[in-house]
Amino acid sequence: MLESTKRLISPSGRSDVPPFMVVDVMAAAARIEAAGDRVIHMEVGQPAAPAPACAIAAARAALAGPLRYTESLGIPSLRARIARHYQERYRVVIDPARIIVTTGSSAGFILAFLTLFEPGDRVAVAVPGYPPYRHILKALGCEAVLIETTAATRFAITPDTLIAAHRRAPLKGVLVASPANPTGTMMTAQALHDLHAAAEREGVRFISDEIYHGLDYAFAADTAARLSENAIVINSFSKYFCMTGWRVGWMLVPDALVRAIDRLQGNLAISVPTLSQIAAEAAFDGRAEMETVKHGYEENRRILVEGLPKVGLDKFLPVDGGFYLYADVSRFSSDSFDFARRMLEEAHVAATPGVDFDPIEGRHFIRFCYAGSAAEMHEAVERIGKWLGRWLGRK
Ligand SMILES: Cc1ncc(COP(=O)(O)O)c(C=O)c1O
Repeated sequence: MLESTKRLISPSGRSDVPPFMVVDVMAAAARIEAAGDRVIHMEVGQPAAPAPACAIAAARAALAGPLRYTESLGIPSLRARIARHYQERYRVVIDPARIIVTTGSSAGFILAFLTLFEPGDRVAVAVPGYPPYRHILKALGCEAVLIETTAATRFAITPDTLIAAHRRAPLKGVLVASPANPTGTMMTAQALHDLHAAAEREGVRFISDEIYHGLDYAFAADTAARLSENAIVINSFSKYFCMTGWRVGWMLVPDALVRAIDRLQGNLAISVPTLSQIAAEAAFDGRAEMETVKHGYEENRRILVEGLPKVGLDKFLPVDGGFYLYADVSRFSSDSFDFARRMLEEAHVAATPGVDFDPIEGRHFIRFCYAGSAAEMHEAVERIGKWLGRWLGRK
């Protein structure tokens, strides 16, 4: 390519973020399916079930009328309904004025990072962790500071590890998730409280990704909204409410940030898709339906937790919440990418290699998503068992 052409069309350095490896796994699975074989999909973190029936009905009814832009902060009745959710679920009173509707939690991160941080600011995230945190931070010119976590702390950042990183070079923020992706582990209310207190003492801004709330099995997940009005809470209709493709979520922010986010969202997107906001408001009435879906995940969790050790995958993290099981496969391979590729090609079970979530230790782990059906979980365990049997025989 000519130098002069390159100058016109080459992408910026900050857009150079790594892809999500799960997309490569999905593409490989699609090739196997195109050849006529059936793959059990445990690679993508999304519910198999549709949105609650009442959400779909509300969207259908709304389609008949005009769908205009909404207020940049979101439809007022949806913001009020989200506030009621905090009252009902956590017994926490939130002023709807502090609630902002977003295009999934993904847009919530962009808005939060833009509002809280300047280019060059350092923000702590846990490793293993959800890759887009660090990729969005990079695209916005901030530095993601990766804090290694261990089983002893349920794979969460602790006051000690936070402060040690802060002493090395000042942090501007810290982002936590509980239940977490990819580990499926949770922070206890006490651990969340202690980390928040340490961050607040040190002047480190606190962001809590609560997208997997509602999908907690080991103990009840607590919200950072209880701890302080200064905490930024990010949530979504994608997971508990099975609305990934509707692209709607929300954030709770301090009063002082509302106007800045209003201006940003107004400029960046005008507003969140109206149809999705209408469906989201109705979704809160579909909780009974969603609890049935959740019980399905609990059953899937039981099948895997009991079944996988019997077929040789006996090392995995506590399966506290969300719909992920993070398994240590180092007994079989020191290259989880290769392990996942072969499991897909030879057993037709798709899972995500840990290297997506943890550049260092991830080569020992793979992530299974158990948001499918119980029959699929049984079949996956059986297929993995036969395949690992052959693998060990080969060795
Ligand atoms: C931990 C975590 N946070 C945020 C997201 C983004 O979800 P959404 O933008 O659909 O709300 C995901 C998606 O998988 C996730 O796992």
